[in-house]
Amino acid sequence: MAELPSKRPAWAALQSHLASAKNLHLRDLFAGDPGRGTRMTAEAVGIYLDYSKNRVTDETLKLLLALAEASDLKGRIHAMFSGEKINITENRAVLHTALRAPEGATITVDGKNVVPEVHAVLDAMSAFADRVRSGAWKGFTGKPIKNVVNIGIGGSDLGPVMANEALRFYAKRELNFRFLSNVDGTDFAETVRDLDPAETLFIVCSKTFTTQETMTNAESARQWSLATLKDKASVAKHFVAVSTNAAEVTKFGIDTANMFGFWDWVGGRYSMDSAVGLATMLALGGTQFREMLAGFRAMDEHFRSAPFEKNLPVIMGLLSVWYGSFFGAETVAVLPYDQYLKRFPAYLQQLTMESNGKRVTLGGAEVDYQTGSVYWGEPGTNGQHSFYQLIHQGTKLIPCDFIAFCKSLNPVGRHHDLLMANVFAQAEALAFGKTAEQVKADKVPDWLVPHKTFPGNRPSNVLLLEKLTPFALGSLVALYEHIVFTQGVVWDIGSFDQWGVELGKVLASRIVPELEAAAEPDLKHDTSTNALIKRYRAAGR
Ligand code: F6P
Repeated sequence: MAELPSKRPAWAALQSHLASAKNLHLRDLFAGDPGRGTRMTAEAVGIYLDYSKNRVTDETLKLLLALAEASDLKGRIHAMFSGEKINITENRAVLHTALRAPEGATITVDGKNVVPEVHAVLDAMSAFADRVRSGAWKGFTGKPIKNVVNIGIGGSDLGPVMANEALRFYAKRELNFRFLSNVDGTDFAETVRDLDPAETLFIVCSKTFTTQETMTNAESARQWSLATLKDKASVAKHFVAVSTNAAEVTKFGIDTANMFGFWDWVGGRYSMDSAVGLATMLALGGTQFREMLAGFRAMDEHFRSAPFEKNLPVIMGLLSVWYGSFFGAETVAVLPYDQYLKRFPAYLQQLTMESNGKRVTLGGAEVDYQTGSVYWGEPGTNGQHSFYQLIHQGTKLIPCDFIAFCKSLNPVGRHHDLLMANVFAQAEALAFGKTAEQVKADKVPDWLVPHKTFPGNRPSNVLLLEKLTPFALGSLVALYEHIVFTQGVVWDIGSFDQWGVELGKVLASRIVPELEAAAEPDLKHDTSTNALIKRYRAAGR
């Protein structure tokens, strides 16, 4: 079995460096190095990354880069991009990067170039989107489509939800988009309650087409639609599918002519730029969707070719390893200062936590260091009036990623200057804080001084972009995809499977018949689960 990364000299070097690095304060690091604020920056694909407010020295960065080398990050990047089966527990290639490869590129999986198929699906999506957007696609009664409901969960929901919100400015506003994911009947009821089935198109989006939540919602949607449209032939006009599973799509009753495919080498949480993005394509149209893909592609190229010391995903990935595995930080806050990115943190939760929530190495050994962090966040400035207090003065170390745009899509009076002033001020306050001496100088009584003191030394990255465009969104998502990859390589974990979600699914399917049985079931769970099931049954549903 391969040795744990923590046993490598590069890891040990960082561990011993930590002893001194822990005592450094950002105040002193800045005071002693006038060039720091402009030197510790990197720029690529329209993203300016200021990482100077991190608890690192040039030596730390050198050691982190050495750790990346020792982890063979270069080799692993090459392996991913060239279609090697690096998802070893499922024996699959990991090729979300092929989803945005240019026409004419060659990427081979099992002896077959997959790029032509990728573009064939994009063309089919684009043609379909044109018909729906123009009103040429008619519902069963001849009315054009007004409402699009994406039914999916996890990667078949979070990406389209986030992207449709993020790019709403560019969307066809006449189309009304909704996203149905939860198996809770309330989600279904509230999603369809004011919709007319004759004007509603459902996208049943599921890689496997077997996911319980999605198939239950899809079945309810079909019944709801047929209750008004009456004729089974209407399904072809009001239901399309996004899936890798043609057999199950057919079984559900959707014509495979209305199915948009993708492939097992695309992980659910890496799929928003595949056919899973059909709702986004319907909102944006083919041209703008392809602009988003160009943003992804530009970041892919940067990740693959830029030297590590200038490589945005590598720098950010290594910094998060530094805090997570060495400082013991448990979480990362992602704080977009753009209302359109309000679902970006939720999207990143699946991307980062389903990918790197792993406790054994690729070789199966239990790790003795922290792996995937808890990612969370809210758009600024709202978070400032809620949880920022804990980041500023609490006992936990929470590295922050601030994301901001120089130009507003909706310039209104002074709003944007105020918004941006808050981004800069928060990063500044977190880093430098306010010393007891400064507080005293404000004539604060002694007893109040500790309460008003900000320790500072709270690390952050600031990502500054020009404007939120489809290209910019693509580049941001790809940035985080590759941050996750970098982390996973350094931790030597499998970032592309998700066995941890399986057990709950299996147990739930065992419990369903116990809840629904007419006769009292013979329960064989633990005493707590047995009692909960009995109480639920006794309540009479
Ligand atoms: O939660 C597990 C998971 O498999 C995710 O990885 C995936 O994105 C989600 O379920 C939905 O899966 P599907 O697209 O197959 O319905």
